[in-house]
Amino acid sequence: MFLMYRFAADKFDGLAKVRNLFERNTMGTQNTWSKTSWKNFTALQQPKWPDMAIHDEVVKDLTRLPPLVFAGEIRDLKAMLAKAVTGDAFLVQGGDCSEDFSQVTAPKIRETLKVLLQMAVVLTYAGGKPVIKVGRIAGQFAKPRSADTEMVDGVELMSYRGDMVNSPEPIEAARIPDPNRMMQGYNMAASTLNLLRAFTRGGFAALHRVAAWNQEFVKQSPMGRNYERIGKQIEQALQFMETIGIDPESPQMKQAQFFTSHEALLLGYETALTREDSINGGWYDCSAHMLWIGERTRQVDGAHVEFLRGVNNPIGVKIGPDYDLDNVKRLIDALNPENEAGRLTLITRLGMKNIEKVLPPLLREAKREGYNIVWNCDPMHANTYTAKSGHKTRNFNDILSEITCFFETHWAEGTIPGGIHLEMTGENVTECTGGARNIVDAELSNNYLTTCDPRLNAEQSLEVAFQIADMIRS
Ligand code: TRP
Ligand code: MN
Repeated sequence: MFLMYRFAADKFDGLAKVRNLFERNTMGTQNTWSKTSWKNFTALQQPKWPDMAIHDEVVKDLTRLPPLVFAGEIRDLKAMLAKAVTGDAFLVQGGDCSEDFSQVTAPKIRETLKVLLQMAVVLTYAGGKPVIKVGRIAGQFAKPRSADTEMVDGVELMSYRGDMVNSPEPIEAARIPDPNRMMQGYNMAASTLNLLRAFTRGGFAALHRVAAWNQEFVKQSPMGRNYERIGKQIEQALQFMETIGIDPESPQMKQAQFFTSHEALLLGYETALTREDSINGGWYDCSAHMLWIGERTRQVDGAHVEFLRGVNNPIGVKIGPDYDLDNVKRLIDALNPENEAGRLTLITRLGMKNIEKVLPPLLREAKREGYNIVWNCDPMHANTYTAKSGHKTRNFNDILSEITCFFETHWAEGTIPGGIHLEMTGENVTECTGGARNIVDAELSNNYLTTCDPRLNAEQSLEVAFQIADMIRS
């Protein structure tokens, strides 16, 4: 009897899912969305929380806490991204692959922000258009994994899924998902955002200061000569502004608008921070300004797409080299049925070997359909390989090749290269090979700190910016 009941319940659950799917396919956006309607769909990559009651309790507590970002800011970002669709702005999105709780410190946050601002100044000047600054920061604490478990020294452990879920330590107890970590993550995100807001308002982001940092970089880089000219030109432009009496204390000169983003992976956490806007109405996921969906959770009939289709934030979707064109089109229709500019960013991560072949068909079809899309290049994720030393790494030249090909393909197809998406840090790590100091395989172990994917260090990130600057300068 008990077994039969179980069977019937499973069957009912299955039927509900089929019905929802059917509705989504036939009725488009008309089926009702709520911040928990995703529960009727299959959610991949969710941790196996040992006690769902504790999980639900944490989610309930989070639901009462203040939002981390505000609907008005989210609308500002969307309006800026709408300009990146038409080539009137450029998006720079970057930060850790995965943030560590232990790295939520003032110096670490300051250095990441510093490099992002330095890159932004170079690209603003060279591109002659505003740069939209978005960090992978203040919430990038959860990771999808290819397997639920891994073998460490002959012991099968649950995979590390990011600090908001478990701890990377290779010990059985440390790997058990702990929902209280979501609360800790919320607090870490809040204190990170607090510092970012203070730094970007309080003079740290002042143009003169950022330009001076760049001059320092140019002096110290072995490739400095190649970057000298643009560094000097920026300095001259600022001097000119000062000469004619533009107030260096004005907000335009002294402050920078900075936004946050992370992968929307843990649906319980994201639901708890989803709030109805009291001014304009509509739902916003107030855990970050922008959320993206990864390659592994972007099923059109999956829970992540269901959740994100109903919030008004700008949404990113990662697109890998094996994408199916019809599937991508269905995703676009599900996430942006009104074709609203600034709503949807496609983050292509195709790999330097594939991009030439697989990017053009995507761009052509999107152009033919008239989709409003911010095209964002992630040159990191499809260029990963394992060095002889066993370190997961990426080569600077491969990263640059993918970026160059991204721009050239867009120019050839008459579409708009709208931004770049980097895994980077302000620290002096040795995680990616190459660059002006030509880090070689044998040096990777010198300062390899990431718990996840290899990041560009401060110098390598700035080099990317200067190289793009050279490419786009008219
Ligand atoms: N306020 C402008 C902006 O945010 C200019 C600016 C000030 C700026 N400080 C900056 C640009 C630092 C890039 C980086 O774009
Ligand atoms: Mn990554």
